[in-house]
Amino acid sequence: MLRPLPAAWPDACYTVGMSVAPSPLAAALLRATDALRPYSATPRLDAELLLAAVLHWPRTRVLAERDALLSPAQHAAFQALIARRSTLEPVAYILGHKAFYGYDFLVDRRVLVPRPETELLVEQTLQIAARFAAPRIADIGTGSGAIAVTLALELPAAHVYAVDLSHDALAVAAENVVRHQVEARVTLLHGDLLTPLPAPLDIIVSNPPYTILAEVDTNVLAHEPRLALDGGPDGTMIYQRLLAQAPAALTPDGALLLEIGSWQAETLTSYARAVFPQAQLQIVRDLADLDRVLIVRQTP
Ligand SMILES: C[S@@+](CC[C@H](N)C(=O)[O-])C[C@H]1O[C@@H](n2cnc3c(N)ncnc32)[C@H](O)[C@@H]1O
Repeated sequence: MLRPLPAAWPDACYTVGMSVAPSPLAAALLRATDALRPYSATPRLDAELLLAAVLHWPRTRVLAERDALLSPAQHAAFQALIARRSTLEPVAYILGHKAFYGYDFLVDRRVLVPRPETELLVEQTLQIAARFAAPRIADIGTGSGAIAVTLALELPAAHVYAVDLSHDALAVAAENVVRHQVEARVTLLHGDLLTPLPAPLDIIVSNPPYTILAEVDTNVLAHEPRLALDGGPDGTMIYQRLLAQAPAALTPDGALLLEIGSWQAETLTSYARAVFPQAQLQIVRDLADLDRVLIVRQTP
């Protein structure tokens, strides 16, 4: 359920007679943090990031200059962003960008906000890619392009094909490809899963939609694209289709790496075993000790 911003959130400016005087930054931050508490697990951090955006300062300066004065215009702008956050709009959409694997990516409502746990998928892919001199890699369901662009940046000899069914997502990915100057080594392809790929590849990596929409918080659904979340009636629909296409799309010593829901390891391992009877299968756990990545390694 969406809850409106509390009417009690006080005007952050002090009224002196008829005029409005600027108020110290620390007080504004405190009030915004309190206002966000019902809507965010990280209210203080959100407030700091949003205030930093209003002031065009790095967050560290917001933390350091507690006695700085905010003008009424700055207060109004800050209040507007707090109101957006109180609808549970992700901070990344409000700011227009998100850090992933140490790089900064443009994001908006057209793409899923890259999640920190997806960095594990990148880490595992980099380890496997080290076995290839010039790996040819596909990122299926690229969204913002965070995985594809990061792999291209970390692997200067690699070529990455980034596929998505959403033209909107590909438009965001294209901006990120240009932003990180990897145009020569990332090819964006529109289409369904592995079908647009040119020839067998060394590595296929994917963070596909894997949620059951009926179980997704309505506030998440209100902001992030359905196509990025919808894993079908049991959350495995995209995996099943991708696994069916994968053997023909991989080189004989190629590898497939999939981000998975922590509850899906057993089911997806058995699907993968059916499709790749000879391959090595491995589940890797994330920092929260949850099953997070399924790796399928072919051995020639
Ligand atoms: C969970 S998001 C992942 C986005 C990004 N890779 C990330 O990790 O942040 C899944 C992406 O898959 C795309 N997608 C959904 N169905 C697809 C399909 N059949 N073929 C290709 N892409 C698809 C969605 O548009 C979305 O961008």
